[in-house]
Amino acid sequence: MSCDICHGGNTQDEARAKAAGSGFRGHISREQIPELCGSCHADVNYMTRFNPSLRTDQLAQYHISVHEYSFAKGDAHVAICTDCHGAHEIRPGSDPRSLVHPLNVAQTANVAIPTRPL
Ligand code: HEC
Ligand code: HEC
Ligand code: HEC
Repeated sequence: MSCDICHGGNTQDEARAKAAGSGFRGHISREQIPELCGSCHADVNYMTRFNPSLRTDQLAQYHISVHEYSFAKGDAHVAICTDCHGAHEIRPGSDPRSLVHPLNVAQTANVAIPTRPL
């Protein structure tokens, strides 16, 4: 997955990648992340092209979870997608290097959350 998929910017023209109007965003704020991840993971048609067995209800589940409830109330320390999965080294939960692998999940829940401010 290339950087521009999440960070925007003009990848055809590196010099102009960060120019005004290119849509480039270096920093992605925490409040934007659930919708960013959900823009693909809640899109059934898109995800089916890659892996029909993957669930596509994570954003919907997130919206009804206690995490989202606190997030919506402005609690910046509540867990969002990247706290549990990471942002750049995202792997399937079956991979022992995944932050949500059964052997790592307790560590992720205890240490990685809560993390950075908005
Ligand atoms: C799947 C989406 C996604 C892709 C693809 C992606 N990033 Fe990110 N990136 C993020 C998110 C989300 C954050 C914010 C992470 C956080 O706060 O936990 C981030 C944060 C960053 C930051 C820190 C910026 C700051 O000041 O907060 C840098 C630098 C960065 N990414 C560079 C890259 C580069 C270079 C690539 C391509 C090799 C890339 N990213 C690909 C989602 C992505
Ligand atoms: C541009 C679309 C897109 C974006 C944005 C995106 N993903 Fe993905 N994600 C995918 C695709 C496609 C796969 C690979 C599915 C496959 O081939 O198994 C994937 C795989 C994953 C997996 C592994 C699933 C498994 O068990 O196989 C996780 C976890 C995941 N993404 C979480 C995230 C998180 C968290 C974010 C936000 C930081 C994010 N994704 C942003 C498209 C996206
Ligand atoms: C509190 C931690 C947490 C948060 C927040 C979270 N996830 Fe997950 N996610 C997990 C765990 C744990 C699994 C299960 C891993 C496993 O057993 O394979 C998982 C599984 C997944 C999978 C794979 C599902 C499959 O069918 O195998 C995807 C894709 C995913 N999450 C995306 C997201 C997205 C997108 C968000 C934000 C809207 C999100 N997650 C928020 C912990 C979290």
